[in-house]
Amino acid sequence: MKFALNGASRSVEPAAGQCLRTVLRGLGCHGVKKGCDAGDCGACTVLVDGEAVHSCVYPAFRAEGRAITTIEGLGAGAGDLHPMQRAFLAAGAFQCGFCTPGMILTATVLDPAQRRDPAQALKGNICRCTGYRSIRDALLDRVNIDADVPACGRSVPAPAAVPVVTGRARYTMDFPVDGEAGPAPGTPVLHCRLHRSPYPHARIRRIDRTAALAVPGVRLVLTHEDVPARLFSTARHENAHDDPDDTRMLDDVVRFVGQRVAAVVADTEQAAVRACAVLDVEYELLPALLDAECAMLPDAPILHDKPADARIADCRRNVVAELHGGIGDVTAGLDAADVTVDVTYRSQRLQHAHLETHAAVAWQDPDGVLTVRSSTQVPFLVRDALCTVLDLPRERVRVLCERVGGGFGGKQEMLVEDIVACAALRLGRAVGIEYSREEAFIGAAGRHAMLVRVRLGATRDGVLTAMAMDVLSDTGAYGNHAPGVLFHGCGESVGVYRCANKWIDGVSVYTNTPPAGAFRGYGLSQTNYAIESAMDELAEALDLDPILLREQNIVRPGDAMVSFDSAEHDVEYGSYGLDQCLALVRGALDRDAGLQAPQGEEWAVGAGIALGMIDTIPPRGHLSQARVSLEPDGSVTLHVGTAEFGNGTSTVHVQFAAAILSVPPDRIHLSQSDTAQLGYDTGAFGSTGTVVAGLATVRACEALRRDLVAVAAMRLGVPEADCVLQDGAVHSGTRAVSYAALAGAAADSDMTLQGFGETTGSPRSVAFNVQGFRVAVNRVTGELRILHSIHAADAGRVINPAQCVGQIEGGVAQAVGAALTERMVIAPGGAIANPSFRNYHVPRMADIPLTEVVFADTFDRLGPFGAKSMSESPFNPVAAALGNAIARATGTRIRATPFRPDSIFRLLAPACPSRPDTGPPSIEAVHPVTDPSGGIAITPT
Ligand code: FES
Repeated sequence: MKFALNGASRSVEPAAGQCLRTVLRGLGCHGVKKGCDAGDCGACTVLVDGEAVHSCVYPAFRAEGRAITTIEGLGAGAGDLHPMQRAFLAAGAFQCGFCTPGMILTATVLDPAQRRDPAQALKGNICRCTGYRSIRDALLDRVNIDADVPACGRSVPAPAAVPVVTGRARYTMDFPVDGEAGPAPGTPVLHCRLHRSPYPHARIRRIDRTAALAVPGVRLVLTHEDVPARLFSTARHENAHDDPDDTRMLDDVVRFVGQRVAAVVADTEQAAVRACAVLDVEYELLPALLDAECAMLPDAPILHDKPADARIADCRRNVVAELHGGIGDVTAGLDAADVTVDVTYRSQRLQHAHLETHAAVAWQDPDGVLTVRSSTQVPFLVRDALCTVLDLPRERVRVLCERVGGGFGGKQEMLVEDIVACAALRLGRAVGIEYSREEAFIGAAGRHAMLVRVRLGATRDGVLTAMAMDVLSDTGAYGNHAPGVLFHGCGESVGVYRCANKWIDGVSVYTNTPPAGAFRGYGLSQTNYAIESAMDELAEALDLDPILLREQNIVRPGDAMVSFDSAEHDVEYGSYGLDQCLALVRGALDRDAGLQAPQGEEWAVGAGIALGMIDTIPPRGHLSQARVSLEPDGSVTLHVGTAEFGNGTSTVHVQFAAAILSVPPDRIHLSQSDTAQLGYDTGAFGSTGTVVAGLATVRACEALRRDLVAVAAMRLGVPEADCVLQDGAVHSGTRAVSYAALAGAAADSDMTLQGFGETTGSPRSVAFNVQGFRVAVNRVTGELRILHSIHAADAGRVINPAQCVGQIEGGVAQAVGAALTERMVIAPGGAIANPSFRNYHVPRMADIPLTEVVFADTFDRLGPFGAKSMSESPFNPVAAALGNAIARATGTRIRATPFRPDSIFRLLAPACPSRPDTGPPSIEAVHPVTDPSGGIAITPT
């Protein structure tokens, strides 16, 4: 087959059934991304004869004689960018950037009229990070980035901005590369695929690998008989004892549909897939537990029978973790109340749906060091886990990642690295694995489904007298993150209110469903939804304004921080802006009260708000180190351990270094997320990139600055106090010595000018978010329209406004999807019934409202340059704010997410005079169906 690729003639013979995307990636066009294999996400978009197509569903043979343009071929050549690439740069229209090449290529073929309607024009492209506003801005030629202004507080462009928009940014599977960050050039990488369990609970009696090994090209079949039997947790934390050791690399018992049973390694992916299909496994079926509400019943199947040192709270009751604690006397508080509410809310299971799926490649370098290139948020913790599971010393294992295509907590796990590492060691070859989109749904962790009962009591004038919360968290088949999610979720949602009597009972239970894990907000979004909805129900019962009720009861600086899970509570009010956030949202909603609502008596309009508080750093330590060194040419190299997956921290590190060392951003070389380059970093989770890793960078740069001043003062013969750093030189009066000269002087003395910084992440501050919505609800059809979305955040000093706004917009957008459309449906047999973007309903641009983002004016005394974290917390108050707005509009409340139109329709059936009375709302409309015989959690449609 002959075709033109980016202007050059190419000749290839595609395999039967091969898609164009695979052919193009095989030709080195790594800007063509693999996101879904179903034509849903648009990450693989290319131009075929000038028309944008999803190359994953475009048969390769149809490219015969055509002209193909990929992102690598856009622009005029010789470094000239296409106008649309420049527009994306100017608008800062990306975070992880995995969707960006596809977005740009799609946008290049739009005419001016189409560009004015971005939601329609980009309906075939999904972005999971940005919330779409900045992408919309790019199409409308809006500028959000302050080019070349390195100061903190300005919207400096991301260091990888040009590589991202040109498709040169390298993600995990974008190799072969240069022999440093990938297997040596010319080294074929073997393909690993997983045979997964079709049953929710079964014992493996026998595995016959004869047929699988007979498939041509198959090199290895790994089963539980071949791998270490050591128990561990896929969850990664600074303290490995935070999570129960309940998982084996490959187990002889399977506990959910989709659990890995065997790994097949072959020369080609097709051979590995074929071998997985013919692998002969004999199972002994065991009774399955699919309903979390049945987990602690006396006759429930027991999922884990592990030793005491596995740190499972109670194997006999399927309880992985539990929490019971509080202050005061809740019973007395409820008795003393004039008004009480007792309500229960249900949050559904969710998936991160980051566009880059889980992937890793493992090989041994020439020195025999096991090297793993992975799509991870925690390379150092994965390194340590590999050492533990494979019994290797730290110096024999290296883990690195380049750019990561989205995480949201989903990559705070070791899900694939262990298996390719094991295979690579066995075969002495490079072995890679890349999850399909379906596997990302069935074989990766998601958000815990929770059932939360809230009891509140208050005096007639709105003073809280009691708060009690009862949480049932479904951790699925394994307890990765189960204790942390439970404890974190139970903390700040109640801690944000002053009340003398608080009590929490929390239980996290095993079920034979896919494991849940870390996800933006870490349990707080579910409990926050319950508490903040209940607060509105209390306000209604008291006939009080819900914002006023909150203003009367929120914590204030000086109030004691209440910890429900730990004696070592190191949280302080580094700054406080919750009152400002509430005022900002109140003002915005008051101003928009006259907004044009849809016409017709069937439309009901209402506004609602919810607030959230979050401890800014995970407890029990989060360690970061940074090293900065002066290069001979006067430029600066900064090594940090934290990964870049769209959180924007690379930019912040560069801003900190530029500000402290007074060098332009393009003179700072950032090296990150490679265990061979730096001592240690816990990882990029818990919104720690800016405040923990950033603080280590600040300390490293300050150390280098001190050395620069000392050496320069000596050379100039002046006191250090007379020296200032400016534009890559140390100045004293009219004299100056450049950094290059200082580097040369240091080299002459066999010195290296460098600085080192580290931090432990303690003490921790708190951040605040308030979300408001005004909505219109069609009482006939159940349609919901968001008329106004306003989000106020207390992020301390905002280091990079464009990026911080983008994080908030992205968090709100993801939460709007979770509140309105997204859900993982578990079929009666335990399988995920909707493992695809289109059936899971990831929002597209047309589904997401523009959110007005405003900031409280605060400066955090604990954070670097006054900053606080702001990646996770915007998610948390969204569902409650939407539910409260719907309730205010309709007078009826839905107590389960998602608020799908069919749920609203059923709930409102008797309320609208213009449609026939269909009877009272059924319980199925608001609560998932629970089938005691085994089915669970299918909200009817
Ligand atoms: Fe769009 Fe990450 S920036 S998916």
